[in-house]
Amino acid sequence: MTIHDLYKRAHVTAADAVRQVRNGDLIIVPTGVGEPPALLSALSEQRREFRDVKVAQILAMRKYAYIDPETVEHVRHVSLFFGGATRAGGQAGWIDFFPNYFSEIPAQIERGQIPADVVFAMASPMDAHGYFSLSLGADYTMAAVARARAVVLEVNPNVPFAYGNCHVHISQVSALVESSEPVLEVGLPKIGPVQEAIGKQVADLIEDGSTLQIGYGGIPDAVVVQLQHKKDLGIHTEMIGDGILTLIECGAVTNRRKNYLPGKCVATFALGSKKLYQFMDRNPALEMHPVNFTNDPYLAGQNDNLVAINATLQIDLLGQCGSESLGHAPFSGTGGQSDFVRAANRSRGGKAFIVVPSTAKGDTISRIVPSLSPGTHVTTSKNDINYVVTEYGVAQLRGKSAKQRAQELIGIAHPAFRAELTEQARAAQLI
Ligand code: COA
Repeated sequence: MTIHDLYKRAHVTAADAVRQVRNGDLIIVPTGVGEPPALLSALSEQRREFRDVKVAQILAMRKYAYIDPETVEHVRHVSLFFGGATRAGGQAGWIDFFPNYFSEIPAQIERGQIPADVVFAMASPMDAHGYFSLSLGADYTMAAVARARAVVLEVNPNVPFAYGNCHVHISQVSALVESSEPVLEVGLPKIGPVQEAIGKQVADLIEDGSTLQIGYGGIPDAVVVQLQHKKDLGIHTEMIGDGILTLIECGAVTNRRKNYLPGKCVATFALGSKKLYQFMDRNPALEMHPVNFTNDPYLAGQNDNLVAINATLQIDLLGQCGSESLGHAPFSGTGGQSDFVRAANRSRGGKAFIVVPSTAKGDTISRIVPSLSPGTHVTTSKNDINYVVTEYGVAQLRGKSAKQRAQELIGIAHPAFRAELTEQARAAQLI
């Protein structure tokens, strides 16, 4: 059969495509905007006909009807990283989560530790050779495609055809539906004076020719906008967004001085505007790869001067970061934070930055604390942390003793909390 025959045979309605799912299955969905709205809406409509089906995803974007505490025995979400659509369910306890390093999810799928029975993913239209591009999320989805009993694609002309290792051949596809709604656009977060001050301090420590990983949250993007005057930056990251696009458009990114995959921006998922998605289309300067490649600390660390910029919610005086929960309450996930902190630590000349406003809740809470709130999920360990940046300065922790770290971190806490932190640290023999 030709690729066109195979396409015609796989082409069905969304309601029929959902019949690929069996009771007890786990469905893998790509990160963020790679989620297929027609398929997940059809699954939502039919959810009461299923039993014990799970949908696993990083950063679910839309609150589909299946994300419903009343129908969890039929179809339930299990989070690989909480976002706006799933956080409340995670905090209320009816959405469970898989703890993970982003880089290791593919291996867990390959080994069957996370079963991948079915894949539901958005894809670009098929090319002349029978390939679709999973450009919005190659991440763990490529591993799931290799293992799943059924691969179901939502083919959308608004999804870019990107290069790299993110392609699925029509012969691997069990069913496909066509849709044409615009890919969800995600704007850059608001940048206030605190974020700007942190961004400036980080930007001052980034040299021309560095390769960047830009994390998730308000401050990493605040850093990006302050890098427009830099030269010959490179990109080896997990998420490509509009911040990075700005740096490419103004000429700050050339990828020329990268010593690992020179000339190429490398990422595993995309989250941004229509302009970003158009930029990704058949662009030889960009490669989208599975996350076990982009985020492998050994591989990413092959880039000299790798700079990783990631945010946290709370940090203790040893430098342990609680970046994904507020006490027991889950907030997001580990994502690639630990992967890239380790990668930057391996990189010759690399710098791992953890950025954090000194306070939360209108300056009433210090985010630098003697010990993390009970139940906090530790994201970056004391053994990995290096630079910590607040609006009050930079603490460089690697190679420093526990007592030196506590002093350094108190030095960049909000002035209103420094005396109290010093007292608490003395009482606990931390300084
Ligand atoms: N105590 C109480 N509340 C706190 C708090 C603390 N210590 N720290 C933050 N908060 C509140 C904030 O006030 C804010 O609430 P609001 O929305 O009501 O104002 C909310 O929690 C979010 O904090 P903010 O600092 O604005 O978060 P962000 O959107 O910039 O995201 C992370 C920051 C840490 C959650 C995000 O970067 C993340 O998930 N990191 C872990 C994963 C990662 O880095 N991966 C790499 C890229 S995928």
